[in-house]
Amino acid sequence: MRKVNSEKSLPRSWLRSLIFHYLWEQNNSFSKFHLISCYILLFLGKAAAVGVPYFFKTAVDTLHQSISLIPYALLISYGFLRGLAVTLIEIQEVLFTPLKQRAVRLISTKAFSFLYELNMDFHFEKRIGDVSTIIEKGSRSLEKLLQYSMFSLIPTLIEILFVLLTVFIFYDSISAFLIGLSISLYIFFTICLTNWRSKFADLANKEDIKCNSSIVESLLMYETIKQFSNESHEIKRHDKLQAAYEQKTNKSKYGIAVLSIGQAIIIAGSLSIIMCYCAFKVGQHSYTLGDFILVNSYLMQLFQPLNILSFTYREIKEAVYHTKQLLFFLNSKSVVENSKNALPLKIYKGQITFENVFFNYKNSCSLLRDINMLIPPKTRVAIVGESGSGKTTLGRLLTRVYQVDKGIISIDGQNIKKVTHQSLREEIGVVPQDVLLFNESIFYNVHYGNFKATHDEVKQAIEQSNLGELISRLPEGHHTIVGERGVKLSGGERQRIAIARILLKNPSILIFDEATSALDNHTEQIIQKQFKEIARNKTTLIITHRLSTVTDCDKIFVLKKGILVEQGTHEGLLSAQGYYYDLWQTQQDAYLQQLFSLQPVVSPAEYNVVKGGNL
Ligand SMILES: Nc1ncnc2c1ncn2[C@@H]1O[C@H](COP(=O)(O)OP(=O)(O)OP(=O)(O)O)[C@@H](O)[C@H]1O
Ligand SMILES: [Mg+2]
Repeated sequence: MRKVNSEKSLPRSWLRSLIFHYLWEQNNSFSKFHLISCYILLFLGKAAAVGVPYFFKTAVDTLHQSISLIPYALLISYGFLRGLAVTLIEIQEVLFTPLKQRAVRLISTKAFSFLYELNMDFHFEKRIGDVSTIIEKGSRSLEKLLQYSMFSLIPTLIEILFVLLTVFIFYDSISAFLIGLSISLYIFFTICLTNWRSKFADLANKEDIKCNSSIVESLLMYETIKQFSNESHEIKRHDKLQAAYEQKTNKSKYGIAVLSIGQAIIIAGSLSIIMCYCAFKVGQHSYTLGDFILVNSYLMQLFQPLNILSFTYREIKEAVYHTKQLLFFLNSKSVVENSKNALPLKIYKGQITFENVFFNYKNSCSLLRDINMLIPPKTRVAIVGESGSGKTTLGRLLTRVYQVDKGIISIDGQNIKKVTHQSLREEIGVVPQDVLLFNESIFYNVHYGNFKATHDEVKQAIEQSNLGELISRLPEGHHTIVGERGVKLSGGERQRIAIARILLKNPSILIFDEATSALDNHTEQIIQKQFKEIARNKTTLIITHRLSTVTDCDKIFVLKKGILVEQGTHEGLLSAQGYYYDLWQTQQDAYLQQLFSLQPVVSPAEYNVVKGGNL
């Protein structure tokens, strides 16, 4: 297992490496050419924009030469340059869009694929809504971050520099100083206020994530909520979250108002002071009327993007927050990785061994202690024990959904830690306790077991798992959509789909985890027969607490509170009169009680037959 960086240790240069990795690299040299072209166009566009007022000023200054064509030529050039500036910036935008969207696609896909690298603890601890919001908002924010930082912030700074240089070179240093001072004051004020306000914006964002989570959770828990008639409780709970969001958002919006008013005061004050200075210079004949108009045009031209700059800065701050959340997500959790030099698992016979295995779930007390099991190849073995004794967990350890804390699990002598995940899971088929299905057709859900299987093979697997009757009843047959997680099917039907999947997968090792618990007695018997068919020549683990279903297994392992207390055949364990015997007796008595309560007509003679027989 690899422990990657904690949240605090996101590299300082994260933005640089993000831009480098997702924008500059993009796995093709064309992206570099695109990006360089974008910047050349941007540079030219901004240079043209700075030239526009100069043509206008010169035209104004030459207006008094009434017979000259110069003002007209200058005004036409002015219009042309203005059009050119806009066109260049638009072409740059067109070139940049595919780069930006590719970056968004790359990071979204990376985040999505990362979900499968995370260990189970992460999935059990995180709320689904939180994760989906982080990925969704993070990817969209990356788009904003690239757009605003690279093609809003930087261009505005370039434009400011151009204007200051033009005024400084062609006019006087005092005008350049005054313009520079007012812009600096504006930027300083914007940054301070935005930083102060972003505390509230961050809090509002956190509340927003909680609201989204609540919606997702309600959708997932819809049936339970309805069954307990707790709609009003859920609505109240959601409204409470919305109220918190409302409160935080209000504060954040008040902050925007303070910011906007402050900016307006700075702009108005600066404009008045600088224009008064220019008017004074015009009075002294140091400036022409054209110069006066030029400075005014520059100021208007600068304050307009500066106005956007405050919005841009806010957006960038927010985008940074979401992008960082996404990067923390991609960085901060432990993942189960293939070990170095991991080899594919090779099945020779299918022998499984557990040697001194210890395991406990994160933040809980010790569960499995010193488990030693030898499961001979091609045998049917059972793992039995009370609820919570760790049976399912043993199956999870074998498939490396979780990793042992101590000890070794090996298959045909190969430590499963040292084989690749993919090969391990290809060789093991699990029919789980709780079967979840995709909201797709029955056919798709069965085909999921092996996408290489042909249409006929899928249909055969459906038939073999006793789904034929169900399919014939459904108007759309095996094209019937099963609903979210398979809710439109009964528990037994879902289990049969899981069995069909395994038939199609045809792995070397099988794990049936309470695989028939949702079936009625009749179907269970048919499916049990099929299990034996499927399990022929395979190593099979049957995990169950219903002992009557495993009496004919080659070996039975008995778990009690995470400890392997007994092992042997059914008869052997009964004659040992230990824990298994007690479990057996308890289940027999419970069964008989049930039988009597349902059929009070059972005679004492029948009772003896039943009690002595195999239930
Ligand atoms: N992800 C988890 N995090 C923490 N504890 C867990 C987790 N999953 C299971 N447990 C705990 O581990 C113990 C063993 O669980 P496990 O599912 O292996 O039991 P089981 O023997 O299969 O029970 P059952 O017969 O009810 O299916 C239980 O006490 C359970 O609460
Ligand atoms: Mg279980």
